[in-house]
Amino acid sequence: MVLLEGAELDKTRTRVRLEPFAHQVGGHTSMMHYDETTICKPLFSQEQVFYESLPADMKPFTPQYRGLISVYLEKDSRGHISLVAFPQNDNESPAQESPVATRRIQQRAKTSCAAEHKPAREGPLLDRTCNDSRSSVCGTETGKGKQDTSFHTKDSNGNESATPERSSHNPWGLHCHRAQLTRMSSVSKDNTPYKFLLLENVASAFQLPCILDLKMGTRQHGEDASEEKKRRHMKKCEQSTSSSLGLRLGGMQVYQATTGHFLCRNKYDGRTLTAEGFRQALYQYLHDGLQLKRELLQPVLQKLSALRAVIERQGSYRFYSSSLLLIYEGKNNSPGRSPFSTPPRVDVRMIDFAHTTCRGATPNHSAYEGPDRGYIFGVENLINMLQEIKDGD
Ligand SMILES: Nc1ncnc2c1ncn2[C@@H]1O[C@H](COP(=O)(O)OP(=O)(O)OP(=O)(O)O)[C@@H](O)[C@H]1O
Ligand SMILES: [Mg+2]
Repeated sequence: MVLLEGAELDKTRTRVRLEPFAHQVGGHTSMMHYDETTICKPLFSQEQVFYESLPADMKPFTPQYRGLISVYLEKDSRGHISLVAFPQNDNESPAQESPVATRRIQQRAKTSCAAEHKPAREGPLLDRTCNDSRSSVCGTETGKGKQDTSFHTKDSNGNESATPERSSHNPWGLHCHRAQLTRMSSVSKDNTPYKFLLLENVASAFQLPCILDLKMGTRQHGEDASEEKKRRHMKKCEQSTSSSLGLRLGGMQVYQATTGHFLCRNKYDGRTLTAEGFRQALYQYLHDGLQLKRELLQPVLQKLSALRAVIERQGSYRFYSSSLLLIYEGKNNSPGRSPFSTPPRVDVRMIDFAHTTCRGATPNHSAYEGPDRGYIFGVENLINMLQEIKDGD
């Protein structure tokens, strides 16, 4: 995360109050809703570099990059905290990153990690968070207008849990949001903005977005990881489906037509899955509680084959700790429209490039030869598993 120091707060600029994004299924930073089709996330310079030098043939498989904004932490008279964004003026040069500030914020972020799961200070946003991210039931607000939908969390043993509280957001996203406000308020100085990255919200085209976040590849740690972090990531890979499949469940929400709620699974659950458990989760993602949504399989398989071909062409890129998002519409076709005439809307997008690297990207890089084999291994296993589901009875 990047902190701008000494920047003046220009009160004449348009303010945008940021709200937590309703459909965040994975990750650790908080995704914020910026406008109907745009979300934002705290900036890591490596991710900005990636988007700004994105190979053209990857564009259909990544969210559109929409620039940077400055974000301020605001407290009202009761001490309630909110995040307010000020879009950059057109004539303003893109906010420059201060390496000193970057190092300091990274250092501070590390030291504040221990506070990550502590309850944050009270506030309107904080009040809306669920206390236990693994066992919450939340209603949902999807873009425009509220939907009377809720979120239930299911663990790998199949136990479904709910709290009496209803909320409009995915419980994992709220968990991340609360943790992030805690981190930000512990390092923030008055009037000191953070830089956030604006990205196309790839779920915004869907009314009831069913989302699967898959951590891709057999290696997760970036080149910049400390020895300790590297060991931690390698252990997680060895002990999960990352090593056996090049895939790991990073989060999921799937709309259940039977009950009218989203069934959610989070990354902790994903780390415990065996290869067979992963297969079952994949099946569950394609099931609406009544039936397997077979019509999705062919379009998803087509997109995955096209993605594999694109990744094969990206010599020397390494997409460490990135995710692949699969999205489809959970809402049934509107009456009067034949389900056979319109192919179901599905999307496959790569996200999270904070640790993506390629030859020449950093001075201390290792020289990588050829495409990211760990990533391709994951895509191929995903294709094979979906093909098996398709061929099954
Ligand atoms: N462009 C997007 N459109 C819609 N949803 C998105 C988009 N980018 C991210 N998300 C949502 O936010 C979640 C977290 O995103 P991302 O992986 O970028 O965050 P992160 O905190 O950097 O992750 P990590 O913990 O892996 O470092 C995803 O699982 C997805 O639900
Ligand atoms: Mg991620």
